[in-house]
Amino acid sequence: MLIFGIESSCDETAASVVEDGRIIRSNVVATQIELHALYGGVVPEIASRAHTEAISGVAEEAFRQAGISPEEIDAVAVTYAPGLIGALLTGLSFAKGFAYSMKKPIVPVHHLRGHIAANYLVWPELKPPFIAICVSGGNTELMIVEDYTRYRFVGTTRDDAAGEAFDKCARVLGLPYPGGAAMDRLASVGNKHAYAFHEGSVDGAPYDFSFSGLKTAVINTVHTETQKGRVIDDAFRADISASFTDAVVRTIVGRLEHLLKENVEGLDIVLAGGVAANSHLRTACEELAGKYGRRLFMPPLKLCGDNAAMIASQGYYEFVSGANASWSLNAYATKSVSEG
Ligand code: KG4
Repeated sequence: MLIFGIESSCDETAASVVEDGRIIRSNVVATQIELHALYGGVVPEIASRAHTEAISGVAEEAFRQAGISPEEIDAVAVTYAPGLIGALLTGLSFAKGFAYSMKKPIVPVHHLRGHIAANYLVWPELKPPFIAICVSGGNTELMIVEDYTRYRFVGTTRDDAAGEAFDKCARVLGLPYPGGAAMDRLASVGNKHAYAFHEGSVDGAPYDFSFSGLKTAVINTVHTETQKGRVIDDAFRADISASFTDAVVRTIVGRLEHLLKENVEGLDIVLAGGVAANSHLRTACEELAGKYGRRLFMPPLKLCGDNAAMIASQGYYEFVSGANASWSLNAYATKSVSEG
C-alpha cells in the first residue's frame, strides 16, 4: 500500500511516499531555517506563506523521486495537529484539495505519532508495545505506545519543550537559530561541571518535565557573567552548553529511569523528535537501556527532524486501523497524542 504524506506543522515543508508504513520511496524536505534565522526563531506568518509557496513543488518532487504517478497512491496522510495553526492549515488544505481531486481518502496524523513512526522506517523489528520519549522543538512527551494507534500518556512538559529551551539558550549565546545542534557540538568540548544547572521537576508529578527554570538560569548566568566583563567566546559557550545539556539529559533520562523501575513488562525504549539527534542524549539513553537490559531504538539523524516520511508511515497504520477523515477535517494547534 502506498501512502502520500504531507508535513507542514512548523518550518519544514515536506512530502513523501512510503510503502506499507516501512519503506521510504521518496522523502522531500524544504526547510525555511534561513528565513527564520534572521529573526532568531520561527515567525508564524512567514512560515505559513513559505509553506504556500513551496508545497506544490515539494509534492511534485516527492512523486518524481518515488517514480509513481498520483493515481497510484492509496491514501493521503497529513499532519493536522499539533503545531503552528497557519502552517498546519497550509498543508492540510493542500492535502484535502489533492485528495479530493484524486478521489483518495484523507488520513489525519498527529505530529508526535509521526516522530515516533520515524523509527518504523529504519527498524523492521520494532513493534508496539514500547516506551516512547518524544523530544522536539515544540513538545516533550513520555508515553507508552500500546499499539500502532493506541497511546498511554505518562508525562509532558509543563512549560517549554526541550528543543525550545535549547534554541533560546543558544540565542543568548549568540548562536544562529536553531541552536540545538551547535550547542550539542560545543557541549562535547565544554566542562559540564562549570555551572551548576539543576534539572526542573514538578511537585507530585514525577513524570512531568519543566525546562523554563533551567532556561532562565542559563540566561541569567550569561547576563551576570557578561556584566562582570566576561566575553562570550567559544570557551564560555562550550561550558554553558555542556552544563545546560547535562541538566537537560539528566531531566529526560531521570524520568525514563523512573518509568523503567516501575515498568515490569520489559518494554523496549524509543527515542524520537528533533532533540533525539543530540549526541549526549543518545549516549545517555544507550547507557540507561543497557543498565536495564532493554532494547533502544533511535532514528538516524536525518529522520529526527520534521519530515513527511514519518507522517506517511504513521498514516499507513492509522489508515489500516480505519482512520478516514471527512472533508471538514480541521487543524489544531494543540492536541494530546492519546486523542490522536
Ligand atoms: O522535531 P523538530 O524538527 O521540530 C518539532 O517537531 O518541534 O525539532 C527541532 C528542534 C529544534 O529545537 C532544534 O534546536 C533541536 O530540535 N535540535 C537539537 C539537535 N538537533 C536539532 N537539539 C539538541 N541537540 C541536537 N543535536
